[in-house]
This record gives sequence, structure tokens and C-alpha cells, in this order.
Amino acid sequence: MPEVHATIDSFRAALDRERTAGWRIGFVPTMGYLHEGHGSLLRAAAGDCDVAAASIFVNPLQFAASEDLSDYPRDLDRDLALADDCGAAHVLVPSVEEMYPTPMLTTVTVADITARYEGASRPTHFAGVATVVAKLFSIVGPCAAYFGEKDYQQLAVVRRMAADLSMPVDVVGCPIVREADGLAMSSRNVYLTEAQRSAAPILHRSLRAAAAAAAAGERSVAAVEAVVADAIAAEPEADLDYAALVDAATLEPATAVGGGQRFLVAARFGATRLLDNIAVGS
Ligand code: PAF
Repeated sequence: MPEVHATIDSFRAALDRERTAGWRIGFVPTMGYLHEGHGSLLRAAAGDCDVAAASIFVNPLQFAASEDLSDYPRDLDRDLALADDCGAAHVLVPSVEEMYPTPMLTTVTVADITARYEGASRPTHFAGVATVVAKLFSIVGPCAAYFGEKDYQQLAVVRRMAADLSMPVDVVGCPIVREADGLAMSSRNVYLTEAQRSAAPILHRSLRAAAAAAAAGERSVAAVEAVVADAIAAEPEADLDYAALVDAATLEPATAVGGGQRFLVAARFGATRLLDNIAVGS
């Protein structure tokens, strides 16, 4: 089993000892309720680095008042067993009081790339993510940090924050892990009813169709976006939030279909918002 740390001091001291011994740290921040997507990040961290470390913390700063903070699924024993299977040596499991003993007067905001897509639907979300990730990076110290491409905008925000603030962290993006029917793994999939769960793979199917249209030579952004929007509009369980072809690095909206792009989609299935994305023209 990994060494479980309830306090920042204990986790930081353990990782400092590992670095002093000459080991490189691979860090995976999570909000728990781990699934195979997190497993792939932990295995990448353990495979690329000498010591894999994780955090499990449901971060209140990134939830709006109307969101699912109190209902967010939790299962610490199962999480620790999975972290162990994937080779984690240290896991930080702090309380909210440990992370935020006093109201935060210091927060991190990343401009521009947070304005659209998830940022438009959840205006306070990325400041909450950037603040907790900056705090975790400061606790962990020099490391490689692993994030899933499922939350593609989050990955772009964290990369930009780490670069802008010269953090001693290599941010590594890892491929989306999917269920057999194509649904991207997410802790929130447990909220889906049976009918919503059967409908949810439309996200991946429609993204693949859009990527195929682009590969076949379609050059109109509106036409490629309509492939996804129309497929989701035809699914009664789904309610489209956005379907956008963007530059893979800057997340600026595409003006023509070309190389180095990403198609981002978000849709509601009942009260549950699901995200997905696919590379286009890479
Ligand atoms: O992706 C998540 O689970 C969270 O946003 C993160 C990066 C752990 C920050 O709370």
C-alpha cells in the first residue's frame, strides 16, 4: 500500500527525501473516485519516473454553489487499492481545513484560454483548478505531473500556468481512456441513468465522424461542427452545450479545418455534464 499522508508537511517531507535520494517524482493530482483513466496516469507516472505520488482532494474552490460538491462520489479504500495496484508510493489525502485553513486571499487565474467552452459554462471553475494545482505543485516541488486529455481545456490551462509562472514541473498529457463502447471514463459517469448511459457514447461517435469528415477533405469549420451538433441534437437524452473545433495549443476557434486542431464537445445528460474531445488533423 502507498504511504498515506494527511498533512502537507508529511507529504512534502517524504517527497523531499525521495528527491534527496536521487529519485524523480511523477505526480498525479486527483479528486478521488479513481477509475482506469486515473490508473493510466498513475502507471505513466510510475513508468516514466522513479517514484509515483498522487493526491486525492475534492477541491471546493472549483465547484460553483449549484454544482455537485457534497454529492461528489468518494471511496477512499478503493482509491488507495487502485493507487497501490498502479504503483503509487505516496498519496496525499488532506482535509479541506488542511488545504484551506483560512479563506484564500491568493488565487491563480489564467486569462484568455479559460474564457470559452468550460469557462463560459462554469465561470469560476478554472480559477479553482489553477489555484489548487498551483498549491499542489508548490507542495510537491520539482516533478513531472500527469493530466488526462479528457479534460483538454484543463490540461491547456495547467500547461500555460506552469509555463507562465516558471514552475519546476513538466506537465504531461495522457490519452483519454474509454469504455468498450467509446464513452470517455469519468468519475461522473456513475450519475447517469441507464438510458443516459446508453446514449452517452454519441459524444465519441460524433467526434469520430467529425474527424473522419475533416480527414476526407471537408474544410468548412461550420460543416465539421455540424456533424457533432446534429448527431447530438438527434439524441433525446443529450443536450448540447458546445461543439467547437479549436487550435490544439491556444484553444482559439478554428477559422478553417487544418492541422493541429482539437474538436471539443460538452453535453448534458440530465443533470450530468460530460466532456469529450478528439484530435483533428494531427
Ligand atoms: O481533474 C481533476 O480531477 C481536478 O480538476 C484536479 C486537476 C485534480 C484539480 O482538483
